[in-house]
Amino acid sequence: MPLVTLRQLLDEAAKGGYGVGAFNVNNMEQIQAIMEAARETKSPVIVQASRGARAYSNDNFLYHLMLAANELYPEIPMVLHLDHGNSFDTCKSAIELGFTSVMMDGSLMADGKTPSTFEYNVDVTRRVVELAHSKGVTVEGEIGTLGGIEDGHGAGGTGLEHVTDPDQAVEFVEKTGLDALAIAIGTSHGAYKFTKKPDGSVLKMDLLIEIHKRLPTTHLVMHGSSSVPKDLQDIINKYGGKLKETWGVPVEEIQLGIKNGVRKINVDTDNRLAITGAIRKVFAETPEKFDPRDYNKPARAAMQKVVAQRMTQFGQAGHASDFQAKSLADYVEFYKNNK
Ligand code: G3H
Ligand code: 13P
Ligand code: ZN
Repeated sequence: MPLVTLRQLLDEAAKGGYGVGAFNVNNMEQIQAIMEAARETKSPVIVQASRGARAYSNDNFLYHLMLAANELYPEIPMVLHLDHGNSFDTCKSAIELGFTSVMMDGSLMADGKTPSTFEYNVDVTRRVVELAHSKGVTVEGEIGTLGGIEDGHGAGGTGLEHVTDPDQAVEFVEKTGLDALAIAIGTSHGAYKFTKKPDGSVLKMDLLIEIHKRLPTTHLVMHGSSSVPKDLQDIINKYGGKLKETWGVPVEEIQLGIKNGVRKINVDTDNRLAITGAIRKVFAETPEKFDPRDYNKPARAAMQKVVAQRMTQFGQAGHASDFQAKSLADYVEFYKNNK
């Protein structure tokens, strides 16, 4: 089937009351892991690429790998999404390349670190919405900023300094006309989110519930949603890694979010951990090996396992054949009629 828009997928998820994982990719093996997990669990998928991923793969390589996936898994509804677009131009280039959805992260300035003003965020997001919707492409925006700077997206600190203000969230949605809203509730990108299992003092699920009450029809997005499972940390450390003790976002908290308007859940770090653990294991146990396939295959399988598990836990499993893909042209009409 043709590529689908994020808007269609999230509208379907809202109807069905489930969440959809958005998994980051940088190379062929990660794309294959996601598609195999989707086939295994009969899930629709969101495949997302950051600016870093686009630079790493030189854009066209990654885009054509995604198209190959779409061709080889015709039964899987697939969204191509830009993760953390940092400017109008980055979003524009993703739209021109063929992405069906973009995130304009105007909560930070273009450096990906400095918190922006509300006015800046509204202005840049609204301009991206205008362009994207004229092409039928979906837009995710963000209000409030995540903590941490581990992977270059975040305002630093603990994640509690810039949590989302519900009044601003309402005004932001009204003024921008976006399709999906990322909110900040205390999470950070990367492995080091919390120093112990998070409770309500550091992971603000109450705030999420309040925002959902105020914006009941807006699709909410949770970033920094890796669970950083202990077993994946242990494999890395067992085979020579040096991860410090850390906690991520428990899956049950994400499931509570899904009951309260969360439709897109961003996961990257858990897959990075799974891949690295599998590769370290091969290197440690069979140091005589040097064919990259000998470690890339188990790495791909380890990522597939994590992704399939999340697809089941988020509820998207079994929903691949619920709907017919609509085209970008359909969404051009949709946005004209829903201004
Ligand atoms: O939010 C960030 C994602 O984990 C992607 O990270 O910019 O290192 O590709 P990246
Ligand atoms: P994690 O680092 O928790 O996997 O978050 C990924 C993310 O939010 C990508 O935008
Ligand atoms: Zn993110």
